[in-house]
Amino acid sequence: MMKVTAINGSPRKNGSTARLLKAFETGAKEAGAGDVKLFDLADYEFRGCMSCYGCKKRDTGCGGRCVLDDAISGVLEEVRRSDVLIFGSPVYFHNISGLLKCFLERLLFPYHTEGVNAPGNTRAVLMCTMSQTEERYYERGYDRTLGITAGCIAKVFGSCELTGVFDTHHLIDYESYRIMTTEDVIRRKTDHYRNGFETEIKRLSGLGKAIVEEKFRAQ
Ligand SMILES: Cc1cc2nc3c(=O)[nH]c(=O)nc-3n(C[C@H](O)[C@H](O)[C@H](O)COP(=O)(O)O)c2cc1C
Repeated sequence: MMKVTAINGSPRKNGSTARLLKAFETGAKEAGAGDVKLFDLADYEFRGCMSCYGCKKRDTGCGGRCVLDDAISGVLEEVRRSDVLIFGSPVYFHNISGLLKCFLERLLFPYHTEGVNAPGNTRAVLMCTMSQTEERYYERGYDRTLGITAGCIAKVFGSCELTGVFDTHHLIDYESYRIMTTEDVIRRKTDHYRNGFETEIKRLSGLGKAIVEEKFRAQ
């Protein structure tokens, strides 16, 4: 059975990242994936890598697993066994969220161990949502920073496509908050949200469908 796992690195369970991940799942199911799950990292109490090097000890042989045993261990195992993965994150200070960063440390570092075979044949996607426009994304070098993370995922899983979702709308009632932006930007974001977000939902659903279809063809 085709296993597809979506990881939400936003603390918001109904924010832009979560909605787009759900769209990816819908597309994956349409293409026939039978085991499709989404995990909200915010539901789990866990920390990042503790640098104990337990995953690399000669006598224990962790087989690519983090030796810390906590609430996230089960989710790490689900990811390890997936055929298709999508990691979703809001951009926080030009990078992925701390939640996703901690998760990736626990997931990826154990595979950087002599004699341990990484999955290598998983289709992975890193999807990042952000307040900035696409133009600023390139101007400010977000593509390079996020590309480094995508590269780290690809090194273990064999591939990782980076996709950005720009100019996201964060709040329903901007007037109630002290946001450091202009009314024009808020108006543009609101319009974009009302008229454009559906396009992104369709794009992510299409991506989920296409990746699962390709994966079936490759089997
Ligand atoms: C702590 C924090 C830092 C942020 N930093 C950035 C940033 O550097 N660049 C950017 O474009 N958006 C930034 N944002 C905006 C979020 O990336 C954006 O609203 C995102 O789409 C939220 O996703 P969500 O709805 O799934 O939570 C930041 C938001 C927060 C809360």
